[in-house]
Amino acid sequence: TTYDIALVPGDGVGGEVVAAGREVLDAVARTSDADIGFAWTTYDWGSGYFAEHGRMMPEDGLDLLAPHDAIYFGAVGSAQVPDHVSLWGLRLRICQGLDQWANVRPVRFLPNVPTPLRTTGADLDWVVVRENSEGEYAGLGGRNLSGRGPGNEVAVQTSLFTEKGCERIMRYAFELARTRPRRRLTSVTKSNAQQYGMVLWDEVFTRLRADYPDVETDSCLVDAMAARFVLRPASLDVIVASNLNADILSDLGSAMAGSLGLAASANLDPERRHPSMFEPVHGSAPDIAGLGVANPVGAIESGALMLEHLGQDADAARLRRAVDAAAAAGVLTPDLGGTASTADVVRAVLDHL
Ligand code: NAI
Ligand code: MG
Repeated sequence: TTYDIALVPGDGVGGEVVAAGREVLDAVARTSDADIGFAWTTYDWGSGYFAEHGRMMPEDGLDLLAPHDAIYFGAVGSAQVPDHVSLWGLRLRICQGLDQWANVRPVRFLPNVPTPLRTTGADLDWVVVRENSEGEYAGLGGRNLSGRGPGNEVAVQTSLFTEKGCERIMRYAFELARTRPRRRLTSVTKSNAQQYGMVLWDEVFTRLRADYPDVETDSCLVDAMAARFVLRPASLDVIVASNLNADILSDLGSAMAGSLGLAASANLDPERRHPSMFEPVHGSAPDIAGLGVANPVGAIESGALMLEHLGQDADAARLRRAVDAAAAAGVLTPDLGGTASTADVVRAVLDHL
């Protein structure tokens, strides 16, 4: 099988890490027991495209992506385009336009990687399941609502929670928890302060629990959850949270694993009506862009998630073992305290495939 992949490098280190990931994925295909290959189509959308066309991607961009088997994405964001314009113009447009309503963000700890937690001896393996279509990022609200001019502006940013939206992401998380040894699911809420949307969230979670008696559950306020990540990490397995809450907690999780550069994610349309998108969690990292030292592991592990989505579980596992082996051999980029370049990490992963 040749998989037809849309490659969207985006801005900054986005291009560096997806190039690394592509090289590794091509090598996985070459060395696979299965007969697989990748055909890549690159779409040069992002801030450079914006400078020329006044938009982040063409008007028919979603139609161009639709026929692909999957999308492999870098990151967006540059000093030339306001962040809310670049994010809404490209990444959020793809996620929401292709109904990729489940954002799955595993937090995996690599051997030999120094982390704030290693000292606790905690051996952690979490998955943050993020609602990816509504909630705080529904895009509802407006500016200049007071009509009273400068100095008196009022802006509103509204969250949207639907029963169906809560139910589908929670069922996804319950099903995922079921496949894991610990079968534990924690729902993240803030229903003490947010008395409409988050209360609906809690009620749906309570109702669904009855359908999954084999999954152990609990519910935790997001502020307490931030502390629990650090203080009682071993109490967590699968975590389901709203768009904003999961965004924040997954960055915290990846920092605890050692670096934001390690974190992988999948933006899934679990109903498979549209292609899903695989991307590292981090942004365009302008502070290190162009230096050749970006950590490619988040992008490479996103490639492993893509392999799983395409049904190639054995190759995904083999790729993760190669990433582990490269880390265990001490080939680490500067964000992890090492001196390796992006290319060094790619070489080490290829060596271990
Ligand atoms: P960032 O994730 O780009 O960088 C935060 C810190 O982590 C920086 O110190 C950076 O050097 C480091 N870092 C990130 N990725 C790394 C990697 N692969 N290897 C080593 N170090 C890495 O977040 P920041 O600085 O808040 O945002 C920069 C730009 O990225 C902004 O324009 C923002 O809007 C955009 N952004 C885009 C995202 C996306 O496309 N999915 C997600 C987050 C931010
Ligand atoms: Mg984020």
